[in-house]
Amino acid sequence: MAARGEFSSRMAFVLAASGSAIGLGNIWGFPIKVASNGGGAFVFTYVVLTFLLAYPILMAELIIGRHAKSDTVTSLVKISGSSTKPLAFLTGYWGILTASLILSFYAIVAGWMIAFGLGSAAELLGMNEFKEWLTSFSLYRNLIFVSLFYILTIGIVANGVASGIEKWSTRLMPMLIVLILALIAYISTQNGAAEGWRVYLQPDFSRILNPDLLISALGQAFFSLSLGVGTMMVYGSYISKSENLPKLGATVALMDIGIAFMAGLLVIPAMYVAQANGVTIYNEAGALIDSDGLIFTVLPALFKTMGFAGIIVSLLFFTLMTIAAVTSSISMLEVPVSHAQESHGMSRKSASWAVGTAILATSIIIVFNFGTLFGLVIDLTTKYSEPLIGILFCIFAGWVWQRDSMLKELEQGSPDMQNTLFWKIWPTYVKVVCPVIVLAVFMHSFGLLNF
Ligand code: TRP
Repeated sequence: MAARGEFSSRMAFVLAASGSAIGLGNIWGFPIKVASNGGGAFVFTYVVLTFLLAYPILMAELIIGRHAKSDTVTSLVKISGSSTKPLAFLTGYWGILTASLILSFYAIVAGWMIAFGLGSAAELLGMNEFKEWLTSFSLYRNLIFVSLFYILTIGIVANGVASGIEKWSTRLMPMLIVLILALIAYISTQNGAAEGWRVYLQPDFSRILNPDLLISALGQAFFSLSLGVGTMMVYGSYISKSENLPKLGATVALMDIGIAFMAGLLVIPAMYVAQANGVTIYNEAGALIDSDGLIFTVLPALFKTMGFAGIIVSLLFFTLMTIAAVTSSISMLEVPVSHAQESHGMSRKSASWAVGTAILATSIIIVFNFGTLFGLVIDLTTKYSEPLIGILFCIFAGWVWQRDSMLKELEQGSPDMQNTLFWKIWPTYVKVVCPVIVLAVFMHSFGLLNF
């Protein structure tokens, strides 16, 4: 077996894990869910659930991963006793399947980002018909750009952790942040923005326990931090033993929430500005006309108000979004690939191409049956699979793994662990509180439990 890779520094891990966390989920998924679930109430519930649930589960993944230093299936098996091994296999493979299915829809949206970026380039060159084609929904456009996105993703993963994943994750994030902030400043000069901010920032507290809102916020909290498939477990396995894990995890979680929050500050007002400019967003029943296409409608409408500069801004924005999507998609593909490599003896290169091509085939099936499959795969993986696997991870961290062994793992990199607030709260918390909350939200959404 080839020597395992490791992130070269703390900064490299934080950037790679944030690169995984920050992606289409923050800038495409989060604003759509805010807009479909009544604004501020969703934002509030999402933030609470991230602190209450997502951060503790992120820690469970990172700690198990760094301890076992293997792919997800092997990691879970390593901390199991003989009676829990079957559960370890089940959980590991369910995670691998979920990661692959998430990539299969994610890559389609990422392909749209590439197409819109190229669309701006085409506009700059005066190729207006080509731009029109690139930015309109069509079978061929979707097929071409989803394939292109896979080539990018597979190419990077094939090169391995240090040279592939790290290099890409460490650069362009700051640029994306600066661009979003600049766009927020710009939008504040536009008609309608104030109404958008009011909707975004003023929660209607009577809605926060709404079952649909809750389960959607739960899924979003897991998705946004890349939880519940093993991505963070694999990334954890590449962290050096000298790092303080709770701090690393907190940094990643805060960056992720921060970017999602900023994206909302941009996209929600952009909806109202677009409306003020005559773009229809809600239908008569008050539902979003095209929720998947939300940011592909309202942001281009915003860029248009900037005249020529808007074409450049659009080019920059969609290029950065493509990169943000790549640093996330590589972390999804890494889950099956690291398993194929470490447990089935494949070389990284052939594992990346074989697994990547199989998942591309799944994407192509979705593209051909977009209306039926796209939303279905998203719901199955993000609303149900991720939280359920997350709970299984909690069960492994809280019930299966020996507490002493876990403490020893945490003490590497933070020798004083036993006296920290983290150690006083977290072990019991993942053992009991996290599973109970997730279960309660599930039962509530199926009407089995009322609160
Ligand atoms: N968190 C990423 C985003 O917000 C997506 C992502 C990357 C992901 N890896 C994952 C989601 C693993 C679920 C599981 O865009």
